[in-house]
Amino acid sequence: MKVLIIGSGGREHSICWKFAQSRKIDKVYCISGNGGISQIAQVSDIDISDFESLAAFAKEKEIDFTFVGPEIPLSQGIVDFFRRRNLKIIGPSKAAAQLESSKIYSKQFMKNYDIATAEYHSFFNAQDALDFLDNWGNKKAVVKADGLAAGKGVYICANAGEAKKAVCEMMTDKVFGLAGSKIIIEEFISGRELSYLIFTDGKTYSMMPAAQDHKRINDNDEGQNTGGMGAYAPAPLAAVDLNKKVEEQIIKKIMRGLAAEKLDYKGVLYIGVIMNDGEPFVLEFNCRFGDPETQAVLPLLETDLTDICLAILDEKLSEIKINWKKQFAVSVVAASGGYPNKYQTGFEIKGLDKVKDALVFHAGVKAQNGKILTAGGRVLTVTALADDIQGAIDKAYKNISQITFDKMHYRKDIAKRLV
Ligand code: GLY
Repeated sequence: MKVLIIGSGGREHSICWKFAQSRKIDKVYCISGNGGISQIAQVSDIDISDFESLAAFAKEKEIDFTFVGPEIPLSQGIVDFFRRRNLKIIGPSKAAAQLESSKIYSKQFMKNYDIATAEYHSFFNAQDALDFLDNWGNKKAVVKADGLAAGKGVYICANAGEAKKAVCEMMTDKVFGLAGSKIIIEEFISGRELSYLIFTDGKTYSMMPAAQDHKRINDNDEGQNTGGMGAYAPAPLAAVDLNKKVEEQIIKKIMRGLAAEKLDYKGVLYIGVIMNDGEPFVLEFNCRFGDPETQAVLPLLETDLTDICLAILDEKLSEIKINWKKQFAVSVVAASGGYPNKYQTGFEIKGLDKVKDALVFHAGVKAQNGKILTAGGRVLTVTALADDIQGAIDKAYKNISQITFDKMHYRKDIAKRLV
């Protein structure tokens, strides 16, 4: 069989790597891929929002099914577009992808189906939001752009004054363009965050080992938010009783909601959960695999990913058993110095050949004249597996320390706070 993966980050490298191991897959294609992906898949440089060209490619190459990594094409309706052309594809329809592409939609969905989440209010113009904040008081507030903002559209504000600034940035200054033309303001909930990912065929689901992301740029969760600087799975915080709670109180209700709303969802759903006083609250939904959670979770998967995808496409997910390694995975992201702000690229990445007992998933990387060069903010992820979390941490750090490039930055405390 032939599979096409859409995307070009570390997440997509790990998805390509997993499919490349599948006994059913003869050839992996990736659009648009990166320097690392090109070592295991045939990459093509097509704009991932150009659905006509993507569908023509899938037809010409006789792709058996397509797997979509990032949220943008999903929110633009790539699944509907492919299905109308009888092309098999893994991902939610455009309507279902609103669970990620509209915060207002997802909060309303949670309210409708009794899924615990922070109290919130929606606003469609700046003045209403500013008037509302006049009575907010001195407590923390979370201001979120309704639309997709590359993970940057959430501001945690210390008080109403900061929240007003956030409202003005989003709605008046339009720093996120149209994505910030509607916003929500919600109560701040404190606690530990967990990433629960499920495979779903729309009828049933299968939970993956819960992961934890590290969103801040620096150790001890200091500095700016990023796309994610590291992850590990399974997170020890996600003990059996908590997983059961999340399943009963959140996942089963989501499934009821998908059915009641007739949402066509065949893919991966990411549920960002925060634990407050022993109770799980949903922070956000993402309609795809997480990055860098995927780089930690997929290496733990024992079952053939192709079998899972075929079962999803046939709505027979309940008929297969999905097995996971009884190990821990730790993923550490190496970023360009300066990220998530301005950074330079084009530096040679050295030492990749010295990585012996870990996986390297490339993201902002390009191959040029036989060299591997940095080409983005998050450059690569090193993932190591071991029987205990400390072993996985040690192995991940031993291996990432072999890799060098100018101004390389990575956190030294991934997974450490729980050991
Ligand atoms: N790791 C967060 C995300 O993928 O959105």
